[in-house]
Amino acid sequence: MAFLCLLIASTSLKAQKWPDEAVEAKINDLIRKMTLEEKIGMIHANSSFTSAGVSRLSIPELTTSDGPHGVRPEHGRDWSLDNKGNDSSTYLPVGITLASTWNPDLGYSFGSVLGSEANYRGKDVILGPGINIMRTPLNGRNFEYMSEDPYLISKMVVGYIKGVQDQGVSASLKHYMGNNQEIRRDGINVEMSERALQEIYLPGFKAAVIEGDVNTVMGSYNKLRGEYCTYNDYLINKILKGEWGFKGLVMSDWGAIHSTKEALLGGADLEMGTDLSMMPNPDYNKFFFADPALKLVRNGEIKESVIDEKVRRILRVMFKTHMFGKRPQGTYATKEHAAVAKKVAEEGIILLQNKKNVLPLNRQSVKTIAVIGANANRENAMGGGSSQVRPRYEITPLKGLQNLVGNSIGLRFEQGYTIARNAKADPALIEKAVEAARSSEIAIVVGGWTHGYNYAIWDDNKYDTEGYDKPDMKMPFGQDELISAVAKTNPNTIVILYGGGPIDMSAWADKVKGIIQAGYPGQEGGDALAEIIFGDVNPSGKLTVTFPKKLEDSPAHKLGEYPGDSVNVHYKEDIFVGYRYFDTYKVQPLFPFGHGLSYTSFRYSPLSTAVSNGLVTVTMTIQNTGIKAGAEVVQLYVKDKKASVKRPEKELKGFQKVFLKPGESVTVAFRLDKDAFSFFDEKTGKWVQEAGDFELLAGSSSRDIRVKSKVKL
Ligand code: NOJ
Repeated sequence: MAFLCLLIASTSLKAQKWPDEAVEAKINDLIRKMTLEEKIGMIHANSSFTSAGVSRLSIPELTTSDGPHGVRPEHGRDWSLDNKGNDSSTYLPVGITLASTWNPDLGYSFGSVLGSEANYRGKDVILGPGINIMRTPLNGRNFEYMSEDPYLISKMVVGYIKGVQDQGVSASLKHYMGNNQEIRRDGINVEMSERALQEIYLPGFKAAVIEGDVNTVMGSYNKLRGEYCTYNDYLINKILKGEWGFKGLVMSDWGAIHSTKEALLGGADLEMGTDLSMMPNPDYNKFFFADPALKLVRNGEIKESVIDEKVRRILRVMFKTHMFGKRPQGTYATKEHAAVAKKVAEEGIILLQNKKNVLPLNRQSVKTIAVIGANANRENAMGGGSSQVRPRYEITPLKGLQNLVGNSIGLRFEQGYTIARNAKADPALIEKAVEAARSSEIAIVVGGWTHGYNYAIWDDNKYDTEGYDKPDMKMPFGQDELISAVAKTNPNTIVILYGGGPIDMSAWADKVKGIIQAGYPGQEGGDALAEIIFGDVNPSGKLTVTFPKKLEDSPAHKLGEYPGDSVNVHYKEDIFVGYRYFDTYKVQPLFPFGHGLSYTSFRYSPLSTAVSNGLVTVTMTIQNTGIKAGAEVVQLYVKDKKASVKRPEKELKGFQKVFLKPGESVTVAFRLDKDAFSFFDEKTGKWVQEAGDFELLAGSSSRDIRVKSKVKL
């Protein structure tokens, strides 16, 4: 950590501030000098990732780039992939793996890397973070997102944004909002209650705007309550720009604008797009915010002041960043950036199961390991859709193990299954894998999801990917058969799973000793994994999403609708998303929200609780009672004992990650204000805290509560 802090201190710039009155006056002056055509030029794309400036007034072009976990390879002005190999960047662990660290400081380091590399590559806006709620395990983009829990998202997203923006680059918060599935994302209409909107789906965005001070927001493709989200009057004008006081710019997702007048008035500021720019000779004047907008202003249907306001927001973002000054040079693909990627992987990889302490492996005594599974030497960086990254290298699990143990342990690799369209269990590959497992002391199977088959072809990105949802929670390519066969042969089987969220493990979870959830741990992931397997690193990641036993147990599928019909999807499960459902409806998950094991153990002292001026302070001492240094994520949940509406069994309202040497203890304090006890009352349209008893529950996961206390408020 000391090293990471140093890195940040040496590269961070002055925190950005929204323009003051003097700058606002300059902005107005610039707007006065601009022709209507110049203004219109600024509010729509002029290439795949840019929008025009006004050179005679020294207003630069605005250059954006995906994405959430690394600066995207160059796609040229017309989407042709530059394959010269000079567009590498650091491939950081994906959003779900970052969030699994439960360490907001790492969010900041992560964002700093992105910001610095964006500068180096000449980008003004990084198209991330993505923070849509993980409503269903099947969403193909869950890997880019953070969690099923709005509180955890709120805490993780702020650091990320500040990290990016302290480098003088803008973050773009996406996808605002309700883009919780990829199936029919282009136009599906989401229907949810106001309470679900306020309690579950908005808080992450709100924190990003109010606490993170994000510069730009990307509207989502879908509709909410019949209106496209990107220009949904309620979401954009009333909530985002009104209630939250957002001063920056709202850009569309690529191709998310479908009309001119409605979209101009609904609050979208910048139209970015795909379809026209994919054509051989794209004509950007055909964008809705181009000639058609010009026409509406000329014929008086739209006031010029509406356009001015959009230009003002774009200029504000430019003034808030470096765009009228000197761009910081930035760095790319450096050792320091790789160290951040590694640290996030180390803290984001989750040890789910460790029967008979099969892990960590002992480097001195173990002599043979069978490493099985196509994911063991699969690279992931270029998959997944728009979040693809081209790193200089990516350390796969197999490479990581080889790096760590060299020739001191016999590693035998067997592919076990094939990553290919329609590939099923292959008896010949399974037989070879079983043979390797039989002749080795330990069998490590690396499986789970992949982004698809052949990342060079967009349509072959199929599982954890933009544009598609996963067909199932069961793993593809015959992996269940493979793992079951290996586990039958070797009693010391450890399964490592890649992927953006829950996997159905019912066929084999109780037959294997160890299970590790790796997410997509980035370019250094293989090294981090190997170090966790051998105990050089003590795992400290925790699940940010409940792993159900089977898909049908998850609330969107059990109570709600998924993927809806061709027009609507109703979020009938309401606020009962993730553990809020499993705990309230008493459904046993496979692994609960917040779960993650360590190689050491922690003791929680009783809670001491004090109430003063409505503020509740909860204090406890955590001690490392084992023989290894390690980190615990102390989670604090609140339970409303009795309420006038149905409330979840418990809700996360605080967490802290503490790092402790053997025997060491630390006192952890949480301060809970009214927000921690309130719910959104649909009758009054306000948040209310009802008087009565509340329970405070602290523990190591949502289902491993160690200490409790009560307060009367
Ligand atoms: C569409 C994706 O939904 C969005 O996340 C991305 O930033 C844009 N395309 C640009 O690639």
